[in-house]
Amino acid sequence: MKDLAGALTAANAAVFSSLGLETKHADVRRSDRPDLGEFQCNGALAAAKAAGKKPPEIAQAAAAAWSATDLAAAPTIAGPGFLNFNVTPTAVSKRAQFVADDARAGASTVEHPRRVVVDYGGPNVAKGMHVGHLRASIIGESIKRIYRFRGDHVWGDAHFGDWGFQMGLVITALEDELGGFDDRAKLDARLEKLTLDQLEAIYPEYARRVKEGDIGVRDRARKATAALQSGSALHREIWKRMHDVSMAAQKRDFASLGVDFDLWLGESDADPLIPDMVKDLDAKGLLEEDQGARILRVAGPGEKKKKKLEDGTVVEVESPDPLLVVSSEGSAMYGTTDLATILQRVRDQNPDFIIYCVDQRQADHFEQVYRAAAKAGYIAREKLEHVGFGTMNGPDGKPFKTRAGGVLKLGDLIGQAVEKARERLKENEIGADFSAEEFEKVAHKVAIAAIKFADLSNARTTSYIFDLDRFMSFEGKTGPYLLYQAVRIKSILRKAQEQGTKAGAIAIEHDAERTLALALDAFDGALAAAYDKKMPHFLAEHAYTLAQAFSGFYSHCPILPSEGGVRASRLALAGAALKQLTLTLDLLGIAVPERM
Ligand code: ARG
Repeated sequence: MKDLAGALTAANAAVFSSLGLETKHADVRRSDRPDLGEFQCNGALAAAKAAGKKPPEIAQAAAAAWSATDLAAAPTIAGPGFLNFNVTPTAVSKRAQFVADDARAGASTVEHPRRVVVDYGGPNVAKGMHVGHLRASIIGESIKRIYRFRGDHVWGDAHFGDWGFQMGLVITALEDELGGFDDRAKLDARLEKLTLDQLEAIYPEYARRVKEGDIGVRDRARKATAALQSGSALHREIWKRMHDVSMAAQKRDFASLGVDFDLWLGESDADPLIPDMVKDLDAKGLLEEDQGARILRVAGPGEKKKKKLEDGTVVEVESPDPLLVVSSEGSAMYGTTDLATILQRVRDQNPDFIIYCVDQRQADHFEQVYRAAAKAGYIAREKLEHVGFGTMNGPDGKPFKTRAGGVLKLGDLIGQAVEKARERLKENEIGADFSAEEFEKVAHKVAIAAIKFADLSNARTTSYIFDLDRFMSFEGKTGPYLLYQAVRIKSILRKAQEQGTKAGAIAIEHDAERTLALALDAFDGALAAAYDKKMPHFLAEHAYTLAQAFSGFYSHCPILPSEGGVRASRLALAGAALKQLTLTLDLLGIAVPERM
């Protein structure tokens, strides 16, 4: 069944075409002026322009040609020719009934399902997760779920960062710590005891040394990277241990965050494809020598940007920068593994579309990779999309850091949030009668809901300030508020069941019922917008509107104290609201507890 906007559009298109107007102008949407009408069509203006007539004339003709139906009365006209519609109580009731009966709560599926890889999360061995990874995980998980729910065949891939210079750097640090790798027993004993915390302590220290100009360390790390990539058994063994320790810890953190990948592949998995790929790029004449390195130019003629040199002079250089394919040490670079990963995905998943949910600051990198892939004929450019996002900032407006100034660790963040959730639950006198185990489970769900909803309720391209106190509030546009509303409906439905009261046919009468029914109707549109734009905040917004509509309904329209058909109808509405709210939250990666 079409949603109400879709049904109105179809009816309006018939009217437009009977008047000889193009139907593409007949679109009816939810109104942003509900005082004038619940739905609106602004197309009379464009249709008039196309037909060389005056907008009011066209609008009047359209309104006159509309015959009142089960769906809506004829539209009224506002301003220079806006058509405003109100749907009939019958249409609203029918639609709400459909949502109540439908397992998908009124959500449609795409006409032509695609094969889609969502590349998100992107944690690195040794480097620790920073805010960028947190957002990538939360947003990517939601996009994956939205795509899957709409009917696409979707793979989520963590694209583990396990192959670059950082690996050589940590291997070098370990070499220093042990005074070399000659003593095999000593090395084995060290590897045995290696933890993620140690790796995450080693990396920043050595990264800092390189950044501060320690050429010795830099060159040894480069050599170690090259040795690893050219197959040195010793380097591979050390790498494997670091990789496994890191991955095990990160899998735990992701599970706790409710983020779940279908593929846990990494950069290293694309490595076997690189030698042939480089040969192929070479054979296609795409590689150029550049100071000992091999690069692939991706800028078109005339694509230039200004660049300031060290001595202050400004020159024009090609833009985007060329992709560095092989370094002068012979190592594969970040872009090289990304290019090879495209080949790997084409081979293994044959995707129609690959979404990269990665920090906006990597936009240039992806533009280089995508152009290179298209130039090499590996995949069409339009099948690749970088879905970027802003940063999560601290109170100072800069990317969030811990109080000690370090990067945030995901496990610590979740721990903090759970602690705060416990406090809030106690303040609100929730869960006093729960077992310790249930209380902990609820606190964890509240914590994750707070973190995720705070992130996803912002348009992903904007940055936002991390404020756990605000995220954790039980009032306002927060995750905990939405969980609380969902749980409240659950308890009403439980009570109804205990009383043996059954839901029945929906008949919308009261205004608050109508508002709730119209909110239920809006789900499919919100889902489609989230899908088309890869913007989960449309669904976050929907969840909030729905929860508020339910709240208004509940305070004006008693459910259990009412009787007969009214009670049955209201109970059905409450059931529909719960089903849709739970589904919407699930698409955001948020799970609802049984009670709280
Ligand atoms: N590991 C990368 C980083 O930490 C993110 C990976 C994103 N995905 C990709 N295909 N490059 O910056």
